[in-house]
Amino acid sequence: MSDIHSERILILDFGSQYTQLIARRVREAKVYCEIFPFNAGLEKVKAFRPKGLILSGGPSSVYDSGAPLIDKTHLDLGIPVLGICYGMQLLTHILGGLVAKSQKREYGRAELIIHKNDGLFFGIDSKLQTPNSELRSVVWMSHGDRIEKMPEGFHAIAHTDNSPTAAMADEKRRFYGVQFHPEVAHTPQGTQILRNFVYTICGCKPTWNMASFVDYSVGEIRKAVGDKQAVCGLSGGVDSSVAAVLVNKAIGKQLISIFVNNGVLRKDEAEKVQHTFKDMGLNLKYVDASSLFLERLKGVEDPEKKRKIIGNTFIEVFEREAHAAGGAEFLVQGTLYPDVIESVSFKGPSAIIKSHHNVGGLPEKMKLKLVEPLRELFKDEVRAIGREMKMPGDIIDRQPFPGPGLAIRILGEVTGPRLRILREADAIVIEEIKKAGLYKEIWQSFAVLLPIKTVGVMGDERTYENVVAIRAVTSQDGMTADWAKVPYELLGTMSNRIINEVKGVNRVVFDISSKPPSTIEWE
Ligand code: XMP
Repeated sequence: MSDIHSERILILDFGSQYTQLIARRVREAKVYCEIFPFNAGLEKVKAFRPKGLILSGGPSSVYDSGAPLIDKTHLDLGIPVLGICYGMQLLTHILGGLVAKSQKREYGRAELIIHKNDGLFFGIDSKLQTPNSELRSVVWMSHGDRIEKMPEGFHAIAHTDNSPTAAMADEKRRFYGVQFHPEVAHTPQGTQILRNFVYTICGCKPTWNMASFVDYSVGEIRKAVGDKQAVCGLSGGVDSSVAAVLVNKAIGKQLISIFVNNGVLRKDEAEKVQHTFKDMGLNLKYVDASSLFLERLKGVEDPEKKRKIIGNTFIEVFEREAHAAGGAEFLVQGTLYPDVIESVSFKGPSAIIKSHHNVGGLPEKMKLKLVEPLRELFKDEVRAIGREMKMPGDIIDRQPFPGPGLAIRILGEVTGPRLRILREADAIVIEEIKKAGLYKEIWQSFAVLLPIKTVGVMGDERTYENVVAIRAVTSQDGMTADWAKVPYELLGTMSNRIINEVKGVNRVVFDISSKPPSTIEWE
């Protein structure tokens, strides 16, 4: 089997918020790439066997004390190099040019005047009206320093009003630098520029696609697991589901997928998950531990305590069931690429701390080896793999759902009657959002049961009952979020239905707070 990873680009990260976007653009061009921290070391870089190197942007100035630098030997690999923003300044600095503070910071939209539309700028057409048939293209700038003197061998290939050297090239060594960010959407022709680098300058062929990834992974998983057994904690969420289906494709019945009902799942969720995965031929073990979880949650109001109880109980149940199923040596996890790069980022783990990991500690505790078939993928690539494997849209396009489930959406104590109320109300919210065709564009939409009662009137009678809040947010990654502008009509329908159909609720409110400062979940 051909190695789908043989055509590949390496991105060295110097701390830009856009580094992941560079990777996305390269992969969209069907060329495999990875991000290493700038200080990964020459040996690791060489071992990756890249056909080209991209130096990302970054917030530093090359003259800052503690600025991230690389050794010149990184440029002696005989492969093309593209420096973006800080990466370009670094290239200049290392190769003997001069970087200086610009008089004026250049931030935002700029018009790039391209000297010749070939090489890096092949196929860039002037979308702008210009008096003297100049080739102009809109780009996104974000820099304080500029190139004062290019290193020997380089010449300017584009400029802006403020930067005489907005892009430079040394075609002989195949070294390029751009002061702007081709990876962001605000540089409309940026994708073409990156593709020119990857295809024409580095000579990569577009071989990276989902079908070849599935084939490749199946082979790798078989090699790693051999004839041993693996277990997987299936939650019904996208990541663990795609990981399980992929591993199932590789080793079939050697994989036991364990689905634990923790008592705080949504309406009909346990049944749906079982149905779906049995239909897909998974060796599924369903464990109804709901009474154990609910017993332990009795009287608990503190959200962090709820999380701990649910996390620990999950580990306990999972461990017991995995042992009962026979001696597995491997644990399948749906770790994604953003988690991997976050944890190796040179900024250290403090940059983004995942406090939401519910199964942390499982592999060490159970002495299991990890199988993480999705650790090279971004979320939408995981969805594409799922589609490639013909998984139902219901699973692939699912909104995220937290491990502690409805327990952190019932403010205060989790009891049977309160769970019933929230489940019914939540099912109405989801049903109506889906009916309105908004389910996919909304990141998460759900109901929350508040710990207060309010007065209402139903018929001739005064009521004193529960309040349900509707939460709906749009987001890219859950780190920041905006409240979704759900149409009034739809809010009205949801409110009416909840009050009429869910016994025990006489008031519905809509949450109009963004994250930050509010969080997505109420607890
Ligand atoms: P917050 O509420 O922090 O949520 O804005 C961000 C994202 O994380 C999910 N979330 C959790 N997921 N265990 C999980 O597996 C948790 O304890 C947990 N708390 C929040 C939340 O649903 C949102 O997608």
